[in-house]
Amino acid sequence: MRIRDNIATRGWIGKGRLISFLYYQVARLASAWGQLGIGKHVELHHGARIAVNHRSRIKLEHSKIIVHGGTFRVGITHGYFDGSGQGVPPSACQLSLVNSDLHILGDVSLYPGCCIDVRDGKVTIGGNTLINGGTHILCKRSVSIGSDCHFAREVVVRDDDGHPHGPAGSEPLNTPDPVVIGDGCWIGQRAMVLKGVTLGTGTIVAAGAVVTHDVAAHALVAGIPARLVRENEIWRP
Ligand SMILES: CC(C)(COP(=O)(O)OP(=O)(O)OC[C@H]1O[C@@H](n2cnc3c(N)ncnc32)[C@H](O)[C@@H]1OP(=O)(O)O)[C@@H](O)C(=O)NCCC(=O)NCCS
Repeated sequence: MRIRDNIATRGWIGKGRLISFLYYQVARLASAWGQLGIGKHVELHHGARIAVNHRSRIKLEHSKIIVHGGTFRVGITHGYFDGSGQGVPPSACQLSLVNSDLHILGDVSLYPGCCIDVRDGKVTIGGNTLINGGTHILCKRSVSIGSDCHFAREVVVRDDDGHPHGPAGSEPLNTPDPVVIGDGCWIGQRAMVLKGVTLGTGTIVAAGAVVTHDVAAHALVAGIPARLVRENEIWRP
């Protein structure tokens, strides 16, 4: 089933607690009106909240967003060069789920311009994870992102290549393969994490890297394809 393309919450970026408070109340009212499909399409557990910028687009077909505590911010929080700081209108977030689930495990922010596209899959994002603008998460089986992760702008995570390929007359070589991003990872700007990859806890992925193989915990990787640069690396938010 397709619910409203646009979630009709109002206002853009509550500056200050009062506006935030009002904003959430509007979001709650919108929920009560059924616009978010609370209970049917969106489950809020343990006092969870969802706050969606009015420019965002959410499509749910036989799908659910399940928020387990904390606040799921969609296009509300903005950061590094997301536009609004410079008076540029921020671009919308897009969540599109078909026969899929999106699990949010605590406070999670998708900055403006993020896109999560899930078909017959499951995406999980851990608490206190920030995903900067322009990031695309494409999932056809499973993408799991840990807690306390920071994604820079325009990161791509995908568990599927989009087009099957292989020797003529035989089965495709490439099939969807789950991606696991451990807790506390920092993914640099325009990096890509491709199908079948597991990033260990605290991994650092340099800007523009294309990660095609598993990365050990606390490793720093860079390049195309991503190679180990340093081990036992720690970063600070
Ligand atoms: C990951 C990063 C922080 C590492 O910085 P650093 O510790 O100063 O790394 P160094 O400059 O010492 O580089 C170490 C090696 O990795 C290489 N390297 C570093 N970044 C690279 C990259 N993005 N792509 C390819 N190689 C890279 C360097 O050339 C160097 O190789 P060498 O030893 O052969 O000369 C940095 O490279 C980076 O990607 N910064 C951008 C992060 C970002 O996107 N921030 C957005 C805000 S969230």
